Amino acid sequence: MKLNYNTIKAVSIIGLVLLIICGFMLNGKKDPNSPGVEFMPDMYRSPSVEVYGVTKFNGDDIYSTQFMPVKGTIARGYIPYAYPNTPEGYEQAGLYLKNPIASSAEVLAEAQLLYTKNCVHCHGATGAGDGKVGQKLPGAPPAYNSGTIKNLPEGKIFHSITYGKGLMGNHASILTTEERWKLVLFVQTLQGPKETAVADSTAKTTPAVAEVKKEEPKH
Ligand code: HEC
Repeated sequence: MKLNYNTIKAVSIIGLVLLIICGFMLNGKKDPNSPGVEFMPDMYRSPSVEVYGVTKFNGDDIYSTQFMPVKGTIARGYIPYAYPNTPEGYEQAGLYLKNPIASSAEVLAEAQLLYTKNCVHCHGATGAGDGKVGQKLPGAPPAYNSGTIKNLPEGKIFHSITYGKGLMGNHASILTTEERWKLVLFVQTLQGPKETAVADSTAKTTPAVAEVKKEEPKH
């Protein structure tokens, strides 16, 4: 490389600048609380990202990965339930909804287990409405083999388990669609053959939860 005046000038200027920088770095009283020079500050101070939103960090938008799903998004494998929680929805479910699961000893054994875990405390082991909790309700659950419930179509049974009815709560959040259909099969075994319907003694429709809440607590 040929050294001319300009090269020497450039090298001297760079050298001078470096000297000044070094001077700055060595100079001065050290602040004991200073974190020092931060190389890549976002490694030291991670931005607190809002769970469901966009956070500003160093002037940039940081997108959280946990956005609410787009409206209308359906989880994989989930089939939306088409019948609304209205008297019309109940009637339509009774007319059109059919059980996709065939009955078998294995399915019924599984359904009985689900029934024991989720229903027996209100409806009783034989579906007579005499479960320990059921008896304490302002209106006991009707027996499955009583006049009103005996001939209940499978669609209505499914609809009532799904949304709940009167004092019975909604079971859609704790039982899968498949589990609810298996329970329908089990309830049908407790309904018994059609001709054996018993008198409708316990089968008074229970008041809606809202009405019960208004009542004064009994001591
Ligand atoms: C908190 C107590 C309670 C639990 C738990 C409960 N039920 Fe009920 N169930 C009731 C009551 C009360 C009724 C009567 C509702 C009415 O007609 O007002 C009822 C009604 C029913 C009916 C008749 C629905 C209709 O359309 O008339 C079926 C079928 C039924 N329950 C099945 C089940 C199954 C299956 C489970 C378990 C997954 C279950 N229930 C859990 C209290 C309960």
